[in-house]
Amino acid sequence: MIIALDGPAAAGKGTLARALADDLGLAYLDTGSLYRATGVAVLQAGGDPADAAAAERAAQTLDLAKIRPQDLRTEAAGDAASKVAAIPGVRAALLDYQRRFAHSPPDGKRGAVLDGRDIGTVVCPDADVKIFVTASLEERSRRRVKELRDKGETVIESRVFADMQARDARDQGRGVAPLKPADDAFVLDTSGLDAQGALAAAKAYIESKSKR
Ligand code: CDP
Repeated sequence: MIIALDGPAAAGKGTLARALADDLGLAYLDTGSLYRATGVAVLQAGGDPADAAAAERAAQTLDLAKIRPQDLRTEAAGDAASKVAAIPGVRAALLDYQRRFAHSPPDGKRGAVLDGRDIGTVVCPDADVKIFVTASLEERSRRRVKELRDKGETVIESRVFADMQARDARDQGRGVAPLKPADDAFVLDTSGLDAQGALAAAKAYIESKSKR
């Protein structure tokens, strides 16, 4: 069983994906971490994430063990990720790994949950379940501010809002694998939902689908 969760930044994909994987006994892949790691690798080598040659090289030789997990969830990493993610060669280099994970999940799991921007449209167009997780820009920006403050980072709310708006525009406007719901995706707006509410709504959809 393959579950594809796509959507914009801070819509609640990661939390929902982890909860679904736990609940259904599936493996979980945060595909954003691959783009974040690629962006961080370019920055650490002193390069520019928008430089196609440097970014492609980083994606092709990506070694997750060399990147500290705490360096992945920073705003700088998210920004670098969305720049390298617009480069077709980077997406091509990361595609195989994601497809292999989906079709042969680790630890003998019977399926996988993948979250990202193009799982239902490009990586796994044949996924059994596709959910497009979204929320208003204001709500997503509030959640990201809280996530960063909880980690002890000093943040300026208007800056997080503007950065998120810029990242949305870049993710939706790029020529390759732009962020958009697959035609057969269920759109789940989590604006008024907490993590439990989002999990309940996703499970209700999955159950209704399996009865059809
Ligand atoms: O957690 P957040 O939603 O902020 O970001 P993320 O899921 O870690 O993704 C970071 C960036 O990687 C996004 O802004 C996208 O540009 C890119 N990405 C992508 O292009 N395709 C994916 N499947 C996952 C992430």
